[in-house]
Amino acid sequence: MKHTDISELFAVKENFIGKQVTVCGWVRTARDSSEIAFIELNDGTTLKNLQIVVQKKSADQAVLKQAACVGASLKVTGGLVASERNIIEVNADTIEVLGVCPSDFPLQKKRHTLDFLRTIPHLRTRTKTFEAVFAVRSQLSMAIHTYFQTHGYKYLHAPIITGSDCEGAGEMFRLTTQPWNADYKTAEEYYADDFFGKKAGLSVSCQLEGEMAAMGLGRIYTFGPTFRAEHSNTTRHVAEFWQVEPEVCFAELDDIIEIAQEFIKYIIKSVMDNCPDEMQFFNQWMEKGLTDKLTHVVESDFARVTYTDAIEILKKSGKDFKFPVSWGSDLQSEHERYLTDEYFKKPVFVTDYPMDIKAFYMKQNPDGKTVAATDLLVPGIGEIIGCSEREADYDKLKAAMEKRGMPLEAYTGYLATRKYGTVPHSGFGLGLDRALMYVTGVSNIRDVIQFPRNYGTL
Ligand code: 4AD
Ligand code: MG
Repeated sequence: MKHTDISELFAVKENFIGKQVTVCGWVRTARDSSEIAFIELNDGTTLKNLQIVVQKKSADQAVLKQAACVGASLKVTGGLVASERNIIEVNADTIEVLGVCPSDFPLQKKRHTLDFLRTIPHLRTRTKTFEAVFAVRSQLSMAIHTYFQTHGYKYLHAPIITGSDCEGAGEMFRLTTQPWNADYKTAEEYYADDFFGKKAGLSVSCQLEGEMAAMGLGRIYTFGPTFRAEHSNTTRHVAEFWQVEPEVCFAELDDIIEIAQEFIKYIIKSVMDNCPDEMQFFNQWMEKGLTDKLTHVVESDFARVTYTDAIEILKKSGKDFKFPVSWGSDLQSEHERYLTDEYFKKPVFVTDYPMDIKAFYMKQNPDGKTVAATDLLVPGIGEIIGCSEREADYDKLKAAMEKRGMPLEAYTGYLATRKYGTVPHSGFGLGLDRALMYVTGVSNIRDVIQFPRNYGTL
């Protein structure tokens, strides 16, 4: 269909003013005076609506009646004129109704609650909020690729179907073609009969494959969906989320922290530069002060604290936490929130966690108690990055796996990389959905994903 994007009309209006244009889109609002009808049209290319001005006398009444319904889709041709109030408007000559929209269309009002919109995920991209969310999501993804592509990383496509649980947290979704009523004596027998001849599942992280590729390619990143059978029904957990995972050889913990900080600043800046309308919208409606907050994040260094010092800070906070604070237990989200929202008031890298609460692959520190790992916590959300230097020593890695009772035969290739020319290397995983929450101020992860997947809902 020959037509012009509404974004283009606003961006280079001088090329179009005084000329005939054809636009397509959906009716966001429509109002009426005795002689003129005003229709606000949106085509998804910009947050801005284009006002269509219709002289009622000269319009086909039946068409106008259908065209003035919220939600209807139209193709409109007319002269583009400058307008004091709306910047530009179209004086409609012809209107074609592409799709009528009956009055039970749920988005009749101008503003709806996010709770309500969550019940109609198939329609919520017709609202400004979700138009903005998905524009920023797209830009953020682009920025992630651009950062790594311009810093010498190769984009690796690791498998989604895997036989090994990277995080060892037992959150892997099982993948099977077995009939539900199969009657086997042992689990081994049952899995042996399955599609791959062994137990398989959906990847919780591409890190292990990423490490194996990096030990040859030098620097890689993966970027795709990962899956976790998370039972936690929180505002920051979903069962399917997007993760970007760089893996860098010849890099120790301090090096990867530097990279992570530079990378986060880069992607935030890219969104601010490329999505000004969306960011202004979020600043006004989602989180007051958002753009100041992000500008500050881009311009200053993140804080850094060891887990051990963080525990002391929490103990001295005088706060009545629901979960007790003690060295050796994992930080709960209330603890993370105190550290970022109240104490540091900016993103903070918490480093050197106790070995026993972290994954097997993390480099063991000389103290014998902690690992060279860090989580990046940000105000309002908590953890957005999980990061570590990897254990490069074959014997120490094997011992850590055995201690956790891991089936070594499922990790022979991974262990082999430590046997054949092992090197210091590090990497991290950023949850795209959580990063998007941070840059938009959206407080529920279900509102940054088209169709969020959670325990009990599909
Ligand atoms: O901290 P995690 O579990 O780290 C890893 O998976 C490492 N293998 C990454 C690596 O070093 N290559 O997860 C990384 C990030 C978290 O910080 C969080 O942002 C996100 O992934 N994440 C989730 N996001 C939404 N819903 C969930 N259930 C998530 N679990 C993790
Ligand atoms: Mg983590």
